[in-house]
Amino acid sequence: MVDLKTLIAERIYDESLGLEAAEIASMIEVPQDEKMGDFAFPCFRLAKTLRKAPPLIAAEIAERISGEECFARVQQVNAYVNVFIDREFVTGELLKDILSEGEWGGCNDGEGKTVVVDFSSPNIAKPFHIGHIRSTVIGNAICNLYRKTGYNVVGVNHLGDYGTQFGKMIVAYRKWGSEEELEKEPIKALLGYYTKFHVEAEKHPELNDEARDTFVRLENGEPEEYALWEKFRELSLEEFNRVYRMLGITFDSYAGESFYSDKMPAVIEELKDKGLLVKSEGANIVDLDEYGLGAALITKSDGSSLYATRDIATAIYRKNHYDFYKNIYVVASQQNLHFKQWKKVLELMGYEWEKDCIHVPFGLVSLEEGTMSTRHGRVVFLEDVLNNAVEKTRVIMEEKNADMPELDEISREVGIGAVIFQELSNNRIKDYVFSWDKVLNFDGETGPYVQYTHARACSVLRKAGITEEELGASAEIKTEYLTGESAYALVKLLYQIPQVITDAAVKYEPSILTRHLVDVAQSFNKFYHDEHILVDDEEERTAKLALVAASKKAIRECLAILGIKAPERM
Ligand code: ARG
Repeated sequence: MVDLKTLIAERIYDESLGLEAAEIASMIEVPQDEKMGDFAFPCFRLAKTLRKAPPLIAAEIAERISGEECFARVQQVNAYVNVFIDREFVTGELLKDILSEGEWGGCNDGEGKTVVVDFSSPNIAKPFHIGHIRSTVIGNAICNLYRKTGYNVVGVNHLGDYGTQFGKMIVAYRKWGSEEELEKEPIKALLGYYTKFHVEAEKHPELNDEARDTFVRLENGEPEEYALWEKFRELSLEEFNRVYRMLGITFDSYAGESFYSDKMPAVIEELKDKGLLVKSEGANIVDLDEYGLGAALITKSDGSSLYATRDIATAIYRKNHYDFYKNIYVVASQQNLHFKQWKKVLELMGYEWEKDCIHVPFGLVSLEEGTMSTRHGRVVFLEDVLNNAVEKTRVIMEEKNADMPELDEISREVGIGAVIFQELSNNRIKDYVFSWDKVLNFDGETGPYVQYTHARACSVLRKAGITEEELGASAEIKTEYLTGESAYALVKLLYQIPQVITDAAVKYEPSILTRHLVDVAQSFNKFYHDEHILVDDEEERTAKLALVAASKKAIRECLAILGIKAPERM
């Protein structure tokens, strides 16, 4: 769709001004006070070239362009050309743009560039609990924001599937586990073994040696240990995938920590060669004291590598393999120090692409008192939260409309959508408290509210017996019927969506889009209440329905970016 600044700049452009249209566009401002116009062009810079006083130049430009049909009014105020855009013109352009075929709202800023997004990345054999929802949902939205703005996106689930804990788990399983138990509820069983190991190791410290030896055997690829580890990994992934399926999330790669086990020795060599590795109490570290970052532990005294080492190997691999434009890590702010150390080590290794590696941190989620049972020693599984959301939604929907068709399907889309939306509503860095009342409120600034608005737009079109596609194909929309305050307020918010999407991507902040979407929904509902849409006059009705259809499509596209479905009825 036409960018309005570009449009104005093209009209202002004249060879005599000595400026390219793009330069003019970049000089155009949005006045604080709406009374001063939608846009303003300052003429100070032209004074030298034209050898005239700026107000005089502004007056001449205003005079020259005021006849254009895209402007309602153009006036000179001091050194400025103030432009009032013609509402009917903008509205017409916007509706044409949104209702044209195919996806809407994106751009191709990222053409030819690859962005890697490391997100979700749970540890296998550990519960996928409520805390993991943040990385999973925020990461997915960031992937979609970058896809929408034209980047090639690689979503990576950097599984925590490696480390000495697997030695412990194997020992515990052999001593106290059973295959039957494991198959039945893998994660609960594995968690039990692991906990029991720690209790027993208090009394029998020699268990720790056994675990270490077992891990070494695993690292050496001994078939029995390897087979067990593989089984643990597979069973864990099956559980995780159930949650990913509920959320509708997929990954392009599951290369986790174990994938880098054979790439570590080279990294350690490289650190040595570059003179960065020093011995400290038998371990190998990179000393980062002078940067106020303590010491980055690279290998333990028994020679085994660590999380940090694997992350260094990972970054180098990703650069070589994907030649990323950006390498993004959506990981809790508790790991701030880890990522600071890691970036510093990459920098000291001489990798200037370190500046393209970005940690996108987020705050903690905690549970409202009494929200979910966190009985002693029990974690809250994300799967249970999602199922609970669907169940609660079902009850609410049944109360509203007992004979709603497809109740199951819609409850799932709304319940899960509600949890995702809440996740993405606040600045990601803020801690927040999970609250069922807030999540499922159909009238608040929530997912169900936005979805309901979309369903309402669908219902208006159904009643009118016309589709989005038909409206898109209809030759002329008489936009003079859409100049009322609430219609135009809605048009303005819709117009901003592509810019909002770009902003949210650049700032790795899906909440920018979420909040704008709430504004759009509120504005749509105001339009719906203020205006009679299904009027008798055909031209007027078609124009209003076009705005309804455009709103519906825009909301659907935005929800899709957030990873939320848009049911046609609710
Ligand atoms: N598995 C880690 C955890 O659960 C998160 C991994 C994040 N990604 C990374 N490349 N460090 O804490």
